[in-house]
Amino acid sequence: MNVLNLYFSSTGNTEKVALRIQDTIQELGHQVKTIKITRKDTKVEILQYDFVFVGSGVYGQLPGQPLMGLFRALLQNYVRNGDIKPAAPRRPSAKTVVYCTYGGAHTGVNEAIPAVKYMGQLFDHLGYSIVAEWYIVGEYKTDNLRSHSITGRLGDIRDRPNAEDLRDVAEKVKGVLRM
Ligand SMILES: Cc1cc2nc3c(=O)[nH]c(=O)nc-3n(C[C@H](O)[C@H](O)[C@H](O)COP(=O)(O)O)c2cc1C
Repeated sequence: MNVLNLYFSSTGNTEKVALRIQDTIQELGHQVKTIKITRKDTKVEILQYDFVFVGSGVYGQLPGQPLMGLFRALLQNYVRNGDIKPAAPRRPSAKTVVYCTYGGAHTGVNEAIPAVKYMGQLFDHLGYSIVAEWYIVGEYKTDNLRSHSITGRLGDIRDRPNAEDLRDVAEKVKGVLRM
């Protein structure tokens, strides 16, 4: 199986998850290409892959700006060249896992849902089945928001994602690749 592991991470939490995803895929003997999105013109050929993991931290309820810019441009290109068609015909073997790391200080997981839905839509438009959506807790690491990691809706989330979170991710990766 040819797997793409695509992510954006500003403060390193999503990167921890993406690297654990990469290690687990390799342990299972599959090829994986990991791409960290740094700019809206990051080069990525989604249609070459039949399994895609895509993730981002959540910022103002949405994925990071570079990922949003890249996905907007990709969507426009895929529409223009006919890879995205009305009714979004399925690509039978194409699967996607969409995930985020999020702090949820104000409204818990509800403020992370728009980010995951946003990312998933590019793949759904392309005919990929969304086989899982994962919400992984990630502490606030910037100085102005650090206190949210203690005072927010999710309680004390310092050091998340922690070893247990990452073990959980590895188990779920094994699960979805068995599908
Ligand atoms: C500027 C900023 C804005 C954030 N906004 C949200 C938000 O709207 N909702 C949320 O659940 N978490 C929010 N967070 C928490 C991050 O989503 C969380 O720390 C995430 O793990 C960061 O991922 P990264 O380290 O991969 O960039 C915010 C964090 C920062 C620094």
